[in-house]
Amino acid sequence: MTPSDADYQRAVDLLVAGELVAIPTETVYGLGADAANADAVGKIFAAKGRPADHPLIVHLAGHDAVDAWAEDVPPIAWELMETFWPGPLTLILKKQAWVPSTVTGGQDTVGLRVPGHPVALELLRRFAAAKPGQPAGIAAPSANRFGRISPTSAAHVAEELGERIPMILDGGACAVGIESTIIDCSRGAPVVLRPGHISPLHLEAVLGHRPAIETAKGAPRVSGSLEAHYAPTTPLRMIAAERLLDFINAQRHRGGRCAVISRNQPPQAGMPHAWRMMPADPVGYAHELYAALRDMDHAGVDLIVVESLPESAEWAAVADRLRRAAVGAGQG
Ligand code: TXA
Ligand code: MG
Repeated sequence: MTPSDADYQRAVDLLVAGELVAIPTETVYGLGADAANADAVGKIFAAKGRPADHPLIVHLAGHDAVDAWAEDVPPIAWELMETFWPGPLTLILKKQAWVPSTVTGGQDTVGLRVPGHPVALELLRRFAAAKPGQPAGIAAPSANRFGRISPTSAAHVAEELGERIPMILDGGACAVGIESTIIDCSRGAPVVLRPGHISPLHLEAVLGHRPAIETAKGAPRVSGSLEAHYAPTTPLRMIAAERLLDFINAQRHRGGRCAVISRNQPPQAGMPHAWRMMPADPVGYAHELYAALRDMDHAGVDLIVVESLPESAEWAAVADRLRRAAVGAGQG
């Protein structure tokens, strides 16, 4: 999916005019606005129905843009950027004084990321060219309504926000499929605030040690760390692999309709037709996760049953998203 010159031009014109554009990234689609324009950023919160104290990630075209947005950047942060950018890693850094507080949720830090998606990078470069001599960043949270499943295709964005935004830049399906790893480098030793595709093992290779993981329950610093998030409107339950078939049979016995997301267990005779087999590896699973949740949410069932995941570190990011989805599910 390659946008035309005219598509890019329209997207840049809208951003410069302070309007919203949904943009593809390698993780999920973002709802973008000119991060230096507080009024434009305000439209993001209105479109998503997101509380205004939740800070946004600013997307940049390259490392050379970092100093315009952040100060006191520690050497370890530069090493992380050099290793993982463009890519699914967001760094929390001390912000420059001028950065609008609507972007940072009133905090003295800013989240920065160079996305690893050719369409996002091309748009960011063209946007920077349209604002010569000025800081050019696109503030973009995931392009879903607040609390709901993040979009991994242009069609998902249209479903979430279609009539509320003037343009969706189509860059095809997102390769990673879950949000970036967030690492706070603003307070001494780097701390993981949100697990993602770049795992503690990847980070260890650069840091020389496993970073601490801080999942602040209920605190609005990282909206993804609110308990309920990424949630379908249908209730969702995680069930251990060895209990999956018994559980589904019991549901059916009392007339409950369920959809199943399974990793190991293929459907058997008489099982629900809404049955999705997921890849057995965490990277493949993450890639398909949100589309699977969205499909099952549309399956007209009373309950989405998800086979539990392994407890190991490489499954942490996917397990995190499903745990929060289960907490928030069924509230729509
Ligand atoms: O992969 C991603 O990160 C996607 C794509 C579009 O880049 N974006 C994304 O945005 O997931 P969002 O808003 O749904 O989640 C980003 C999180 C927010 O929950 C926010 O709280 C956190 O990053 N964040 C941003 N700036 C922060 C800061 N200064 N301190 C702590 N957390 C921050
Ligand atoms: Mg989000």
